[in-house]
Amino acid sequence: MSSKMHTKTKNQEIFERLLEVIPGGVNSPVRSCKAMGQNPLVASMAKGDLIYDADGKSFIDYCCSWGPLIHGHAHPEIIAAAQRRMALGTTFGVTTGIEEEMARKVTQLMPSIEKVRFVSSGTEASMSAARLARGFTGRDMLVKFAGHYHGHADFFLIQAGSGVLGLNATSSSKGIPEDIVKHTVCLKFNDVENTRSFLYENRDKIAGVILEPIAANMGVVPTQPTLMQMLRKVTEEIGALLIIDEVITGFRVGLQGAQGLYGVKPDLTLLGKIVGGGFPAAAFGGRREIMDYLAPLGPVYQAGTLSGNPVAMEAGLQTIKMLEVPGFYEGLLRKTNSLTQPIQATIDRLQLPACIQQVGSLFTLFFGARKVENMDDAKGLDALRFAEFFRYMYENGVYIPPLQQEAWFLSTAHTEEHIAYTRELVIKFLER
Ligand SMILES: Cc1ncc(COP(=O)(O)O)c(C=O)c1O
Repeated sequence: MSSKMHTKTKNQEIFERLLEVIPGGVNSPVRSCKAMGQNPLVASMAKGDLIYDADGKSFIDYCCSWGPLIHGHAHPEIIAAAQRRMALGTTFGVTTGIEEEMARKVTQLMPSIEKVRFVSSGTEASMSAARLARGFTGRDMLVKFAGHYHGHADFFLIQAGSGVLGLNATSSSKGIPEDIVKHTVCLKFNDVENTRSFLYENRDKIAGVILEPIAANMGVVPTQPTLMQMLRKVTEEIGALLIIDEVITGFRVGLQGAQGLYGVKPDLTLLGKIVGGGFPAAAFGGRREIMDYLAPLGPVYQAGTLSGNPVAMEAGLQTIKMLEVPGFYEGLLRKTNSLTQPIQATIDRLQLPACIQQVGSLFTLFFGARKVENMDDAKGLDALRFAEFFRYMYENGVYIPPLQQEAWFLSTAHTEEHIAYTRELVIKFLER
């Protein structure tokens, strides 16, 4: 064996083998860390706020599987609930009582959801909701906003955020026919007047308007309240459906999601991530008359072998029950603020071209802008400085999302000690 091979870490070895059999060595592109100029973390296990690579090195984790793990990794109560359910059988392909329990929980907590259907991923939830909106309204056009990500269905990969940010700007991927692209219109985010005009001008064509209420796939960028109010009013007026994608924000920013914060009642809501408690589950739901348009009651088809998987339902239910403990969100916010506020104060003191944008336990540290309101701002960020920052954090045992235009996620498992360590590390980087 050459001495060079001896110097390889296990992490490197496994990643090189992964490259031989999985495109890019990853099952979802943003995991690859390519733009960060290093190999990705190959996880071996995780517990609480720590994730371990294949060599056993630990990292304080602020990615938290991109959002589901609001109670941290491998929470004993969630694991126990899943194990109890698993022992009864992992999937049946027939309906179960736990699905009713979970559906009741969701409909009780989110008043806009009168009926809900469970699926296996956020992508599936958004593509099903789009079909339902089109079937229900009898119209084809979908309106979305630049930089918002709704999964990778053909008609939503138009100027999308997250891992597709750097790709082609019309459709965000090869392999999507023009005939499909032409039915999706992508508008500038947080531009109330142009959006209003567009909606009125196309009043008879629009099936639905979809948005992330707090965009998190171009970094955290909240919707301006005036835009949200206008969207609710005008979609109602023109007979289009308002679809709020709460795959990230649902149960993250409060028990009623972002719609609770904005005081808005959408026609359809998408849920994912937290709702599955770390297992593959997502959901879409809304007004009864719209949801009853789905098969077997109605003419819009939608189905799934593992939909409403009992193990995922049990884990999701346990996760949500733990969120219902009084003071949960206030506690998590305090924790998050203890990290973000001193960092923002350092940015202000040093007058750096940077900022933190935050809603609850969801935030992004942007380099190269004092404020990010839309995709144009998000595209102008300082990518080199961020890559340098990512590598610095990684070398010092902190794992953050390997793309600036993403959100950091805090969990209740983050210890004060680890938060203090992270805070000092970030401040040191900003000061140098
Ligand atoms: C807002 C939003 N919608 C939809 C999706 C797609 O979900 P999934 O990755 O489970 O398909 C994501 C994924 O990150 C998301 O952030």
